Parts: sequence; structure tokens; C-alpha cells
Amino acid sequence: MSGGFKEKRILLGVTGGIAAYKAIEVASRLKKAGALVDVVLTKGAENFVTPLTFGEVLGRKVYTNLWNEESEPIHIRLAENADMAIVAPATANFIAKARLGIADDLLTTTLLAIRTPIMIAPAMNTNMYENPITQKNIEELKKRGAYIMPPAEGVLACGAIGAGRLPEPVDIVNFAENILSQNLSLKGKKIIVTAAGTIAPIDPVRFIGNHSTGKMGFEIAKEAAKRGADVVLVAGVTHLKNPDGVKTIRVNTTEEMRAAVLAEYDDADAVIKSAAVADYRLAEVATEKIKKQGDELTLKLVRNPDILKELGEKRKNQILVGFAAETNNLVEYANKKLREKNLDFIVANNVKEEGAGFGTDTNIAKLIFKDGREIDAPIMQKSELAKIILDEVEKLL
Ligand code: CTP
Repeated sequence: MSGGFKEKRILLGVTGGIAAYKAIEVASRLKKAGALVDVVLTKGAENFVTPLTFGEVLGRKVYTNLWNEESEPIHIRLAENADMAIVAPATANFIAKARLGIADDLLTTTLLAIRTPIMIAPAMNTNMYENPITQKNIEELKKRGAYIMPPAEGVLACGAIGAGRLPEPVDIVNFAENILSQNLSLKGKKIIVTAAGTIAPIDPVRFIGNHSTGKMGFEIAKEAAKRGADVVLVAGVTHLKNPDGVKTIRVNTTEEMRAAVLAEYDDADAVIKSAAVADYRLAEVATEKIKKQGDELTLKLVRNPDILKELGEKRKNQILVGFAAETNNLVEYANKKLREKNLDFIVANNVKEEGAGFGTDTNIAKLIFKDGREIDAPIMQKSELAKIILDEVEKLL
């Protein structure tokens, strides 16, 4: 253990499962690793373990009651003091309540008030764990930024064999340490990322689109979330799955993307616009499928709003990062967009170059800043380029 818990204050929530006894060892290990541990037991947990046990192990007060004898809002104090919360074991009932925001005891109330990472280690009978409602609850908590430690598999206390065992205390503590030691350099910052292409519908079955797959933007969103940012990903048309811990808004058209981005813009700290936005839309979208007739078909297109330009005009303190996908005159065109859209920097790439552009896992880019500075990013994974882009955003923030 690398001492990641030194001077850290950990809220350890224990709920009413048979594995609650393992939480005693978790508490003990956290203490040995240098953490100050505040234990909160639910009523259910007290059926399996007692406050006295934890109190003896930690040499500290253990909390069980929201309605305490002290005349202070104890849940707020516990939440404000915690560098992170661990709930182990977490029952299906606790997970369901946490998902819904029910606050009917000290643990659920405290967790609602916490702004630091929350780690949840579910432990229950396999059927309960695999029940779609439990899975849905877990997914939802993940989406909202909770760290879920998947349960171990094996013979459960109830005799069933499968997933649902609480992992070993040493593993729980290591998992928590990893969360704590992450570089949360964007914590408290709201970052909007746009990704993938928008489309121009022609009729109910056809559209005009582009080759963007959204990989670059999704990597940026994932990396920003890892660094603790509050990430809103506005995604155009793509098969990529919603990244964990990211608020993902799906859109089809440029106008929908514009509306989604503007709705989130006011309190954003940065916008990274990697989406390949359709510049034109059909003057009129047919309400029924267009039947073929004659040798030619002319479609009339009209201009779409330039979202990034509008953001550049409306910006207050937001950092603005644009992308320029070009096939020629890369630097000249990118510089023009940088100035015209009032950006802090632009990520320019030549989509014709091998290893860059649409659909690949790699990219080759040049970051061009408004002060004329340039950073060359040679061929690298899009996930690596995402780090470089966010390092620069961080410096500007
Ligand atoms: N962009 C936007 N809204 C548009 C078009 C582009 O927000 N209607 C954003 C893109 O997300 C990107 C940047 O502007 O960050 C540059 O996009 P790009 O398509 O390269 O350039 P355009 O401004 O559309 O110019 P052109 O198509 O003429 O190259």
C-alpha cells in the first residue's frame, strides 16, 4: 500500500448484509493505512455487527442515528469531512434507495450531501444481484459518478453459487485507494464535450451524414470524467456506449446539438467541440418517403447555425476548444476558424493523413493557440491525445 490514505478521512457505510462482518476488517485496514474512519451503520447492519465492535477497532465514535443527541446536523458534518465514502457491503435495498435519492436514515442522508467520490461494493444473493432492477439501479448510480466495485463470484452465505460475494477487505481497500489517488485535477469543473457527426434528415428513411464516429470526443469525455470533472457529453450519431460517470445527451441534428449545448453553457467552465457538425440541412424535410422519379433529384440545402461561433460570441469565462478537420491548407484554415470562432485553441488534423481522422483509434494533430503557440501531437492513440488536450484546458482554467 502506497499510503494513499494518510490524513484522509473516510466515511465507511455498512448496510445489513451477512458480509457486514468483513467491514470490520475494512475499517481496521483503513485505520492502519493512516485514514481517519467515520463508520455509519444502518439499522440492518446492526443485526449483524455492533457499533461497539467498530468503536473498539477504531477507538472512535460510531454513528447509527440521524436523530442524534447532539444538536447539530450530523449528516452534513460527516459529508463535509469525508474525502471519500465507501459503502461495503451495499445491500439491494440500499442501492435502490441511493438510486432514488431516498434519505430515510443517517447513511442515505449523508451520502446525498457528499461531494467527494462514493464507492459502493454490492453484496447479495446472486438472483437479487442479477435482477434487472438491481442492475438498472447500479447502472444509474454509475452514470451519476459512483464507483461500483463488482462483487466477487463464489459460494454465497445463502448457499447459492454465483456473483454477489463481497470482495475481500484487502481488495476493497485497494480499490478505494485507487479511486482516491486518481488525479482529480478537474474536480468541480463543468466541461461540455461534443462528439460524432450530426445529420441532415432528408425524409423519414434517409439522411445526409459524415464519417465521424465520435471516438475522439468520447475519449475526451472519459478522460475529463476520470479527472473528476462534471462532464456533459452531447453526442451526435454514433454506436459508442454512454461512458460511465458522464451525463450523455444524444442528438441527431445540428439544431438539436445547438439547443443541448446552449442549455448547458452558462455555468460551463470549458467546451470542447470535437463534433463534426453538419453545416447544412434540407430546406424542407419530406414527411413521407421520397419515391424515385426522373433521372435527377435536386435537394435544396440551407445553412445550419454555427454552434461554436455562437459560443464564441456569447462566452463569458468559458474556455473554448474547437476542432478543424481539413484535407488541405491545414494550418491556414485552422487559424481562420480559431479567430473567427473566438477560441482559445483549435485541434487541427488532416483527415487524409494515414493514422488520423475518422474511425481510427489514432490521431495526428496540431494544437494551435490564440497566442500563436503550436503543439505538435505525432501519431498516438486518441485516448492519449485526449490527455494532451485536457492538460492544456487545465492550464487555461
Ligand atoms: N462547428 C460548429 N457548428 C457548425 C460547424 C462547425 O460548432 N455548424 C464546430 C465544430 O464542432 C468544430 C469547429 O466548429 O469544432 C470547426 O468545424 P469544421 O467542420 O472543421 O469547420 P466549419 O466551421 O464548418 O468550416 P468548413 O466546413 O468550411 O471547413
